Amino acid sequence: MSWEKELIDKANEIIELYPEKRSALGPLLYLAQEKDGYISNDSIIQISNLVGITEVQVKSVASFYSMYKEEQTGKYLLSVCKSISCEINDSRSVIDSVKNFTGLENYETDNDKVFTFEEVECIGACGGAPAVQVNYETVEGLTPEKSLQMCEWLKEERPELVVADELQEKFGGVKSFDWAIKDNTGSSYSVPGFQNIGTAKEKNL
Ligand code: FES
Repeated sequence: MSWEKELIDKANEIIELYPEKRSALGPLLYLAQEKDGYISNDSIIQISNLVGITEVQVKSVASFYSMYKEEQTGKYLLSVCKSISCEINDSRSVIDSVKNFTGLENYETDNDKVFTFEEVECIGACGGAPAVQVNYETVEGLTPEKSLQMCEWLKEERPELVVADELQEKFGGVKSFDWAIKDNTGSSYSVPGFQNIGTAKEKNL
């Protein structure tokens, strides 16, 4: 479905933040993904017109980076790190636990569109390995049991907003380090929560 005026206005606000229109390509792709859950062909055309580059150029960026999805994801994208720090801290058991609960293999989405599962390379939380992201909100120091509880909680509670601090408090363990400020903004779909593109929303914890 084509972009409505409100979304185009939002896109133009983002474009204004950059000296060159084409530099807004990345955030606009996230906007498109938040709209449909993936980067649709229609969004490719819209973005191409908005930033003045060809559809092939837009598509080449969208298909290169794994955080831009070509198919609709479930409500919760579970990205489990499999890189070295996590691996030596038993991420394999966390991966097995998530796979057993969801019944999914890598890059699969369940029929009810609740979960998408993927194994990913380092997500920058090595000090708190093993680490997992839910809609790019990071939780560190997971165990197989805690990851199972987290999946059960997501399935039962279906939170609209996934917030890293909340996940960490409920299911996490050792953290890399404490953030200087409390972060109560979260992500509402399989896109990172960024305030300047409107995908981050405040939650009262
Ligand atoms: S290796 Fe897993 S977060 Fe870095």
